Amino acid sequence: MITVRFITPGPNGPLQDREVEVPADGRSLMKAALDAGVDGIAADCGGVLTCATCHVYVDEPWCAQLPPPSADEDTMLDYTADERRPNSRLSCQIALTPALDGLTVTLPARQY
Ligand code: FES
Repeated sequence: MITVRFITPGPNGPLQDREVEVPADGRSLMKAALDAGVDGIAADCGGVLTCATCHVYVDEPWCAQLPPPSADEDTMLDYTADERRPNSRLSCQIALTPALDGLTVTLPARQY
């Protein structure tokens, strides 16, 4: 198990700052978040890379720990509801491994 931290930003600091224990068995960050009841990830397509509603902002220095987005993920990142930033990723494309223990992501204000 590893710990992943999900931050939901608010106007005056985090609205929610939650650490969850998740298996590091290669399942996606999106699935782990949904299984843990984390709010703010819709994942309408179930992880087949056609919705962009699993958008997250990966906190530094974790960006460098992740493989770069595939061409398909990069394309879908143009369709996120909230602004795309250099650290934007689709959580369904992030496979959880032991090396990601402590991974921290910030959720966008909206997924639609
Ligand atoms: Fe649809 Fe990630 S769940 S693109």
